[in-house]
Amino acid sequence: MRKTTLLVMAIAVALLFPARVARAQSAAPRVRAAEDGLALTPPMGWYPWNEFGQEPQNEKLIKEIVDALISSGMKDAGYVYVGPDEGMCFSRGADGKPTTNLKRYPNGLRGLGDYIHQRGLKYALYTDAGTHTCSKAMPGTKGHEFEDMAVFAAWRADYVKIDWCNTEGQDVAQSYTKLRDAQLAAGRPIVFSLCSWGVGEPWKWAASVGHLWRTTADICAPGKADWSAAMKNAAANEKLYSAAGPGHWNDPDMLITGMDGLSETQNRSFFSLWCMMAAPLMAGNDLRKMTASTIQVLTNREAIGIDQDPLGTQGHIVRREGQAEIWAGKPLFDGSQAVLVFNSGDAPAEVHVTWSDLGSAESAALYVRDLWTHRTTGPRRGGITVTVPPSDVALLRISKSSTFPAPPIIVADSYWVSFRAPQPGPHKLTRAITVKTTGTDELPLWKVRPGLPSWLSVAVTKHGKSQTLANTVSTAGLKKGLHHAVVRADNIEPVSGLPISALYYDVDLEVCGDERD
Ligand code: GLA
Repeated sequence: MRKTTLLVMAIAVALLFPARVARAQSAAPRVRAAEDGLALTPPMGWYPWNEFGQEPQNEKLIKEIVDALISSGMKDAGYVYVGPDEGMCFSRGADGKPTTNLKRYPNGLRGLGDYIHQRGLKYALYTDAGTHTCSKAMPGTKGHEFEDMAVFAAWRADYVKIDWCNTEGQDVAQSYTKLRDAQLAAGRPIVFSLCSWGVGEPWKWAASVGHLWRTTADICAPGKADWSAAMKNAAANEKLYSAAGPGHWNDPDMLITGMDGLSETQNRSFFSLWCMMAAPLMAGNDLRKMTASTIQVLTNREAIGIDQDPLGTQGHIVRREGQAEIWAGKPLFDGSQAVLVFNSGDAPAEVHVTWSDLGSAESAALYVRDLWTHRTTGPRRGGITVTVPPSDVALLRISKSSTFPAPPIIVADSYWVSFRAPQPGPHKLTRAITVKTTGTDELPLWKVRPGLPSWLSVAVTKHGKSQTLANTVSTAGLKKGLHHAVVRADNIEPVSGLPISALYYDVDLEVCGDERD
């Protein structure tokens, strides 16, 4: 094995399993994502809160957003988690369990999940760790943790954001740990987004509990982007860079790109900062009415490649020059490095980025890729000078090689396979899902985890960057009724050998009559 490969693997183990490395000295718990393989790159998706607040959150809105997410190209760019935030979607029923508000979600919250899964997207839901959600319009999970997480699993949620309102007297770590245990007991793999706005310093302990944690207060009041609040969030989040890594992310809050109140330049700069920080990219704007420029920013595959890099390192400020910040410390999977120059001042800034800012020798001959103009220059020695207008950025990728491969982004045509076996049986039925990578390199075959129920088998075939997972169900010997399984498949990024987020999807089989051999 090459030395560099060994080094990358050692870094990967340390990043992905910091607890394992630390366990030599202490009995620190493992990183949760090491078990479930979820969110090994920062989660991407859409949540309604920044644009809409509670109104008008309903089934119609979420479905229209889902459709816009697909037609705008955002799904292909990697945005996958979508669903309601706080918005009166359920209440607590007489049986003590969450029950859908059918006025807002006529097909039920499970029905919404099916709509989302059928379109190759993943389902995100919202609740609170206290007695109620923030506006008190919905029940919180306090005292109902296990039944609530069981119902979320039954609704087929893949992601849950849990807020920290109305939690008087509760301990942050204990409350969220109990919710983690409730999720594990519910048995459905789920990305856990802790939302205590930095209360209880989750970056110190939450890697074993969830996959991402808010580090700051809300980035804006619903409906209007707030540039200065966003810059405050970035400044606070930047300092926490050492806590982030695959499966455990600092979250400086959802995106404000494309909302009223930001200029085109600010949209681009904001997005670059979030990508450089390996922040979750949960869009917060109205996807049904985006300008071409907003779409261009949100789907810039080269910028997203920085955010979604398999090494999962959060970049940080290595130097300031006047009002300009030089961000680096973000090595990428192919040996290149990301650099961001952000001009927070009112006048243009001319900045010389030196190769030593990247930890390279000044004599090194390096190529520079501008991730907004999509141009490559070089090779250059001794650094590069950039002129950056006020509030603008230069987002660069710097490499010994003149090629800049894109890391894998996984896009599926569906995350739900549903069979109905008519009478009489026995029947053997097959239906496939297709999963492609939009990265530069083809992936090895997806490896399906053993342990599927006896009525289900999955065969994987490869056609370049696209792979087919053919699901065959056999009703022989099965009882009448509904049968359900969650399939997990794993893969690696072939250049670095690092794991990519596990692929999960649901298989349902409805058997209409008892089937006997
Ligand atoms: C908190 C969260 C927001 C949003 C609202 C809903 O303020 O930080 O992201 O979920 O609650 O009330």
